Amino acid sequence: MTKLTGIFGYPLGHSISPAFQQAAFDHYAISARYEAWPTAPEDLKREISKLRNERYLGANVTVPHKEKVISLLDGIDSWAESIGAVNTIVREGSQLVGYNTDAFGFVRSLTEKGNFDPEGKRVVLLGAGGAARAAAYGLAKEGIASLTIANRTVERAERLAEEIRRAGLITNVSGLGSPELATACSEADLIVNSTSVGMWHGPDEESSPIAAKTIPTACVVYDMVYNPPFTPLLQEARKAGAVALGGLAMLIYQGAAAFEKWTGRKAPINVMFAAGENALSDMIATS
Ligand code: ATR
Repeated sequence: MTKLTGIFGYPLGHSISPAFQQAAFDHYAISARYEAWPTAPEDLKREISKLRNERYLGANVTVPHKEKVISLLDGIDSWAESIGAVNTIVREGSQLVGYNTDAFGFVRSLTEKGNFDPEGKRVVLLGAGGAARAAAYGLAKEGIASLTIANRTVERAERLAEEIRRAGLITNVSGLGSPELATACSEADLIVNSTSVGMWHGPDEESSPIAAKTIPTACVVYDMVYNPPFTPLLQEARKAGAVALGGLAMLIYQGAAAFEKWTGRKAPINVMFAAGENALSDMIATS
């Protein structure tokens, strides 16, 4: 019997997960299909319940379902609980268990693709939404020296900072608004963008959240946005002479961790990267 897995999101027009996950299954000749399942919020409960059938390995979950899906599952792991979001569901017998592999994917992409060891580093995180939460928890667990969370809505940044502090992972955490951002960036070893600024078809696709003059040369700039691959922020980072890293690697590594949970096999990471890069190029070429 061909096993099934896929991704729930809404809308789901441009996901490249089907391309690189299918490539991984095919690499091992596992009889499984990875499908795109665009699912409106009112249909989520019904669609998730289908995963209990033994034909299913599990699923990925993306915007806007990552938080809401939790109440439909039988359990979640500690990362999903801290971050408050699930991006991977695994059918374990009759149980549906939720995981969050975003933080892991983010940290692995930073260390392996960016050659960046977060321990002892000063980090500025732009944004305070779901993607920011994954980055903040992932980095805090890696022993960074300080975390400054900057967000358009400053209260949201302060709330996330307070939560990370209370979790006891690091003490040097603060939240701030845009006016104080330049000073925080001038002392940063790593600047991470988790906002949707610069995202293809996003509300602010031509913009960079910060300009080159705000970016220190001896800094790594990581944009979680993966489309376009060379975002306005990464262009500013290059101008400043800093290291520029795009978000595709995070997407692949979070997916690789999901693949390993579904199959118990080591994810063929190079195969997944090649398929992901191809799918992204095709998408850009046809848009
Ligand atoms: P996700 O789950 O992808 O992180 P989200 O929870 O909606 O999505 O968070 C989006 C983030 O991008 C937020 O930090 C948001 O700032 P606000 O909290 O002030 O809304 C940020 N963001 C979105 N558009 C932005 C813009 N034009 N300028 C600055 N920040 C923006």
